[in-house]
Amino acid sequence: MNDEAMRLIEAARVAAVHAHAPYSRFAVGAALLMVDGSIVTGANIENASYGLSLCAETVAVATASAAGRIGDVVAVGVIGGAMDAEGRATGAEPVSPCGRCRQVLNEAAQMGGRDLIVHCGAAEGDRIASYRLSELLPEAFGPADLGIVRGG
Ligand code: THU
Repeated sequence: MNDEAMRLIEAARVAAVHAHAPYSRFAVGAALLMVDGSIVTGANIENASYGLSLCAETVAVATASAAGRIGDVVAVGVIGGAMDAEGRATGAEPVSPCGRCRQVLNEAAQMGGRDLIVHCGAAEGDRIASYRLSELLPEAFGPADLGIVRGG
């Protein structure tokens, strides 16, 4: 694991502590590395009306956007795992962003003119798989298609 990946996976693990996931009991944490080196995090928030649940990556991007920083994301770390009796995420299998989260991350990527690096880690252990967002969501539709930014 390189330094960037390690830092983001550790921050995502800390964020997952505050997952609100009483229905699936699957806690997810996401951490965004920003251009200035700071980190913005999120955890999944489930809802009694199940379909309204928000993923950790979406919460993190919303938090960055609310601070006026949607175009400042450079890299992402995500972890997740089944919660134990104390609510801690467990498991050594890397988790990768769901389809909707890939599209949400693409908004941040194109607004910043960057192809994000996505580090997929696990709740425990050191297994990691790192990708470019363009590998996880090829030929993405985004703000560039609507003339909001150039390229894509
Ligand atoms: N989840 C995330 O937070 N991010 C993903 O990319 C995949 C799934 C959450 C949604 C739900 O609260 C729980 O994990 C089980 O699907």
